[in-house]
Amino acid sequence: MALYKRLGKLTGWTVPEGGAETRGTALLRPSGGMSTANNIVYRTERIARYFESNRSSWLQFYASERWIFERIASKSGSIGRVLDVGCAAGGLGLALQERFSIDEYVGVEINEQAVAAARARRDRLRPRAEFHCQDIVKMATVPRAPFDLVTNLSCSDWNVETAAITDACWRNVIPGGNLVISLRLTNGGSVNDMSRSYQHICFDEGLRDDDEKANYVVFNVRDALRLFENLRPQPSQVLGYGYWGPPSKSAVTPYDQLVFSVFALTKSTRDDQVPTSELHLPLSLWTA
Ligand SMILES: C[S@@+](CC[C@H](N)C(=O)[O-])C[C@H]1O[C@@H](n2cnc3c(N)ncnc32)[C@H](O)[C@@H]1O
Repeated sequence: MALYKRLGKLTGWTVPEGGAETRGTALLRPSGGMSTANNIVYRTERIARYFESNRSSWLQFYASERWIFERIASKSGSIGRVLDVGCAAGGLGLALQERFSIDEYVGVEINEQAVAAARARRDRLRPRAEFHCQDIVKMATVPRAPFDLVTNLSCSDWNVETAAITDACWRNVIPGGNLVISLRLTNGGSVNDMSRSYQHICFDEGLRDDDEKANYVVFNVRDALRLFENLRPQPSQVLGYGYWGPPSKSAVTPYDQLVFSVFALTKSTRDDQVPTSELHLPLSLWTA
């Protein structure tokens, strides 16, 4: 815990005392709402090792993720040019090409070894592919932007600058295109505080105190929808799908059940479009 308090001091990130769950979006944005690029640069080899043998084929992705991709693909099964933010070893590109036609696949990833693993598998990708080792928040725009589809699976909510990562993804979406983003939801308070909610970066081995840790952000459902509403330009449509389940065994978090959700946010082609929503989420997220 002391480590994360020190991290807060070093970065200006708000690490609240006490641990009361927080409502509202304040904690989901870095201080001042600015893009301060204080994300954790993950150093462990374990990300590369895990993702080069997992989440690399269509059926290894969650039902919620597959549901959303099926919904946004064109009738002919095309999803166009894809930017995958937090791409790890590039497994989503391999998975999507099994199911859809892709014109291009570009990955951005903060962990060096994962980028090396993605590049090592580039010849398995049919479309043109390239990978950048960078914090997405530090990239004004990604080379070859804008993209028809920007994906952010377990990325915004696995680092500290959740809102800035989401904004950065959004600015790389072409008007009329989509951002697909996964978030963990609750009917309780949002938590973006690594002293209370974090994940050991440990996939098979037993958990140890000295494991590198990732942030494990949980959103109150209304805060998640506000995060989307605060994007500029606002999305013209928010499509969501999710279901209750237990948190990962490697996570330490105040909740024992969360809604694992995936959203597709469509970027408007006009200024005057009022955002609409189609949410296939459990009613108990609002009523419980
Ligand atoms: C939980 S993993 C998910 C990997 C992959 N998206 C998937 O769903 O299979 C999250 C990945 O996002 C990367 N990441 C976290 N913050 C990032 C940032 N600010 N910019 C780029 N990559 C980031 C991590 O290093 C990690 O590889």
